[in-house]
Amino acid sequence: MASLEDLIPTVNKLQDVMYASGIDTLDLPILAVVGSQSSGKSSIIETLVGRDFLPRGTGIVTRRPLVLQLNNLPKDSSQANENIGSDANPDPFSSGSTKNNQLEDSLSFVEDGINGQTNNNQKHRSEWGEFLHIPGRRFYDFNEIRREIENETARLAGKNKGISKLPINLKIFSPHVLNLTLVDLPGITKVPIGEQPPDIEKQIKNLILDYVATPNCLILAVSPANVDLVNSESLKLAREVDPLGKRTIGVITKLDLMDSGTNALDILSGKLYPLKFGFVGIVNRSQQDIQLNKSVQEALNNEEEYFKRHPIYRTISNKCGTRYLAKLLNKILMNHIKDKLPDIKTKLNTLVTQTEQELYSYGGSALSTKENRANLILQLMNKFATSFISSIEGNSSDINT
Ligand code: GDP
Ligand code: NA
Ligand code: MG
Repeated sequence: MASLEDLIPTVNKLQDVMYASGIDTLDLPILAVVGSQSSGKSSIIETLVGRDFLPRGTGIVTRRPLVLQLNNLPKDSSQANENIGSDANPDPFSSGSTKNNQLEDSLSFVEDGINGQTNNNQKHRSEWGEFLHIPGRRFYDFNEIRREIENETARLAGKNKGISKLPINLKIFSPHVLNLTLVDLPGITKVPIGEQPPDIEKQIKNLILDYVATPNCLILAVSPANVDLVNSESLKLAREVDPLGKRTIGVITKLDLMDSGTNALDILSGKLYPLKFGFVGIVNRSQQDIQLNKSVQEALNNEEEYFKRHPIYRTISNKCGTRYLAKLLNKILMNHIKDKLPDIKTKLNTLVTQTEQELYSYGGSALSTKENRANLILQLMNKFATSFISSIEGNSSDINT
C-alpha cells in the first residue's frame, strides 16, 4: 500500500459491516503532531492530507490546537450505496433488497483493498471543510479555510502571539481521506514573546499533554534536523507519556537545511534513539516554496527526488519521505484493526449463531424474504471476518523491521 488513501476502501467497508451489525466502531487512534516551534508540524499534516489549508510559516503560527477530523466521502454519492456509510440507517434489514448486494460489494471491496487493488476511480469529487464554530457552512475554497483558521485563532488567542487551549474543530470531507483524526498543536517554546504569559512553556506543554497522554494517541514527534537530537523537545515530551516508545513515531524534518558535511543517517537508521516504529526523514516545503505556491504534489515529488539522489540517504530512500510516513501510518492503523478483529469475529459469530437458531425456530418453509436476507447478511459478515483476518495476518508483520 502506498498511501493513507489506499487504506480508505478497507477501513470504510470494515466500518460499514461493523456498523450494519451494531458492533463498536474501530476506535482508530488519533494522530497528534508534536514538536518545537517551526519544526514543520503543520507542513507535515498538509502533505499527509494532500491539500493546502493550514497556516504555516516562521514564528508561532499555530496558536490553538486544531482538531482535524477527516471524513471520507463515499466514492459516488449518487449511488444508492451511500446510505451504508456512517450516517446510514442502523437497521441492516430495513432498507430493502439492495442491502445484500451492498454488503457483498463491501466484502469484495475489502478483499480488493487487502490485495492492494484499490479503487482510484474517485478523483474528481468535491471536497470541503466545515468548522464546528460555523455550523452548516461548507468551505469549498481551501484558502478560505486557512483564513478562517487564522481569524478564529486571533479571536480567542489574540493577534499578538498568545495561545489558547480551546481547540478549533475542523472537519474535512473528501473522497481522498481516511476517516481519521489528526491534531495540529502549537509548538513548544521556551521564551515568552508578545502577549505570551511568563509560563508559556508550561502552558503549551500541558496543552500538548492533554492530547498525547491518552493511550489511543499516536505521537508524531517532530525534530528538525538542524537541531541536536539530544535537545529535541518533542522526544522529551513523548517520553513522558510513552516511555517505551511504543506509540511514538520519530520524524526528522529540514534534512535539506543541515550543515553541509553532516547528515542524520545514524538517527534515521535507529541507532541513536529507540522507538518501535523508528524515525522517518522528511523534506517539507521551504518558506520560499510556500511563497512560490509550490503544490503538495510537486513537494512530494521533489522530496522523493531529494532522497533518491542524495549521496547518503539514497541507500535508505525507500524508508524516507512523507510518502513513506503515510505508508508507515497505514500499517500501524492496519495493525490496530487487526488487533480488534478477534473480538469483532467473536461478536459476528454470536450474531450468526443467534440468527440461525431463530431461523430454525421459524421452521424451514416459513422463511420470509426478510429472514433470508438477514441470514445471508450474517453469513457474509462471518465470511468477511474469516477472510479479512487471514488476509491481513501476513500483511502487517514487517513494521518493526
Ligand atoms: P510548525 O510551526 O511546526 O507548524 O512549522 P511549519 O509547518 O509552519 O513550518 C515552519 C517553517 O519552516 C515554514 O516556513 C516552512 O516552510 C519551513 N519548513 C518546514 N519544514 C521544512 C523542511 O523540511 N525544509 C525546509 N527547507 N523548510 C521547512
Ligand atoms: Na511555525
Ligand atoms: Mg504549525
